[in-house]
Amino acid sequence: MYVCVCKGVSESHVKQAAKEGICTMSKLRCKTGLGSQCGICRKSARQLLHQISGTKPQAPCQL
Ligand code: FES
Repeated sequence: MYVCVCKGVSESHVKQAAKEGICTMSKLRCKTGLGSQCGICRKSARQLLHQISGTKPQAPCQL
């Protein structure tokens, strides 16, 4: 299922990014382009990223 329709980013892309250590929206946006157009996907993508990575939205990243 697509998380970001504008950039064609799926849930599996977000899961893969989280496995690679991406744990912030800015890093996810840099890697995938997610959220860089209409922005509708940002809130749900943030929730998904932090759910997958097991981090809280303000937790420090290890990258
Ligand atoms: S749906 Fe993600 S930027 Fe539009």
